[in-house]
Amino acid sequence: IPTLMFETSAEADKHVSLVIESLIRENNSAGTPTVLGLPTGSTPIGVYRELIRLHNEEDLDFSRVVTFNLDEYYPMDSTSIHSYRRWMNETFFDHVNIPEENIHIPKGDIPREEVEAFCDDYERQIERAGGIDIQLLGIGRTGHIGFNEPGSSRESLTRKVTLDPVTRGDAADSFFGLENVPMEAITMGVGSILSAGKIFIMALGEHKAPVVKRAVEGEITEEVSASFLQKHPQAVFVVDVAAASKLT
Ligand code: F6R
Repeated sequence: IPTLMFETSAEADKHVSLVIESLIRENNSAGTPTVLGLPTGSTPIGVYRELIRLHNEEDLDFSRVVTFNLDEYYPMDSTSIHSYRRWMNETFFDHVNIPEENIHIPKGDIPREEVEAFCDDYERQIERAGGIDIQLLGIGRTGHIGFNEPGSSRESLTRKVTLDPVTRGDAADSFFGLENVPMEAITMGVGSILSAGKIFIMALGEHKAPVVKRAVEGEITEEVSASFLQKHPQAVFVVDVAAASKLT
């Protein structure tokens, strides 16, 4: 995967935001939609902040933007302080002008027997939107993209998954204890992600250095779902110096 290294996370955020901004402006002048695939977590916060600034200060218009979020915990009430739906509203959606009907996030509050149909429909909605133009990703310490934990196949689509203990451990603080972290999640699959036209996977900070090395330089394996990005023609790893520190 081509790797772009920046001295600071702010420069990495600027780079990714600029590419997203350019595509939105280009599509807006052609009157066509821009379809974005979006993550939650600590990594993309700076990009969201920069996109909000562009909206407020430089008239970046999101009225034709369509979004698909990667994942949501299951079960999870959409109003819970732990829900990704609420996190996205507070971090990004409440601050730009994306029409509500253009926003898609896996629902964590549907009955178990409806999950499969919901996931199939999520895939169909992505197709109907014309596919994802730019997919933004973080990477978990298990090598996951979305919540595609070790063992997720290259072809996997949106589905309910069991979270890896490492991932649940990393979430424990924000849930005020491991016992409060859900066991499951609904996530777009590796296959869903690889269908995107362009992919930015971001990693910031020293704690990501070992997994960045495995994803970029290691073998392509289900054990590190981010390693499948090595075969994507338009995937770029955007890292700061700390996250790149183990690369040869
Ligand atoms: C979140 C997601 C995850 C995170 C990953 C990194 O929607 O899909 O794959 O991107 O766990 O999380 P942070 O950025 O918090 O280190």
